[in-house]
Amino acid sequence: MPPGWNGVETVRRIWQVDSHLQVVICTAYSDYSWPEMIDELGESDSFVILKKPFDNIEVRQLASALVVKWSLAQQARRTMCDLQAVVRKQTRAVQSAHEETIYRLVRASLCRDAETGAHIRRTGLCSELLAASAGWPAERVDQIRLAAPMHDVGKIGIPDAILRKPAALTSDEYSTLRDHTILGARMLAGSTSPILRMAQEIAQCHHERWDGTGYPSGLAGEQIPEAARIVAIVDVYDAITHDRVYRKGLPESEVQKLMLAGRGTQFDPRLLDVFMSLLPEMQAIAQSIPDENGEEVLPEWCSTLSSL
Ligand SMILES: [Fe+2]
Ligand SMILES: [Fe+2]
Repeated sequence: MPPGWNGVETVRRIWQVDSHLQVVICTAYSDYSWPEMIDELGESDSFVILKKPFDNIEVRQLASALVVKWSLAQQARRTMCDLQAVVRKQTRAVQSAHEETIYRLVRASLCRDAETGAHIRRTGLCSELLAASAGWPAERVDQIRLAAPMHDVGKIGIPDAILRKPAALTSDEYSTLRDHTILGARMLAGSTSPILRMAQEIAQCHHERWDGTGYPSGLAGEQIPEAARIVAIVDVYDAITHDRVYRKGLPESEVQKLMLAGRGTQFDPRLLDVFMSLLPEMQAIAQSIPDENGEEVLPEWCSTLSSL
């Protein structure tokens, strides 16, 4: 009968120290009946109630049995922790092998394409930012950061004569170039990985337009997967803000005008509004990854997913 609190409160305080401790309650039941006490302590196999007067031998046997039970449970908990650590480590290893494979695939396509590694990284990070600000859940935001860089992998199947042609393309050549969407989607098809499935949608649909005049399928509005609508905005923004062999990057005021001109025609108007509100952050990403330093991208780009 400690002053200020009763037996039930004492047990609660013991469990605050270690919630797995086994407790033997020896009570004369002056304040409590058994059912009341059990009710207050909740369903648990961590306490035993003994009625006074109790037998000393019985208490000793009970105590030794409970000590054995507690130490076995401790051992099981330790084993569980060890197993969880091993699973976490292996999951991380699989994840990082997965990410590196994605990276290698993108690198392979860059060998053919004039696009820079920096463009690929910026596309991933800017898509991640736009998706997060558009209210996507964290897991899908992580996925688009990795999936967006694969948008042009299909260019690996386009002949050099077209991909690297220094002059304007004929309409036949342009039509072949447009096949990079279908080729990319075909390369990525059939995976059970959510990242690769998203990458397939993006590869297939990143040149579709909100008004239905894009390619390869002429999808319109919300028929176009949202991931592809995000990458469509980010990809165009990145392309027009940076220098290419055939033209200079546009100044920021021109860029804003050009992006807004595509609102509701080329781009999803809701996503474009979110994007425009993020321009300072997008510029900061662009400044942090300039084209000149874009080739060695493995360490940062291949970071382990933040959810692991
Ligand atoms: Fe493309
Ligand atoms: Fe691109």
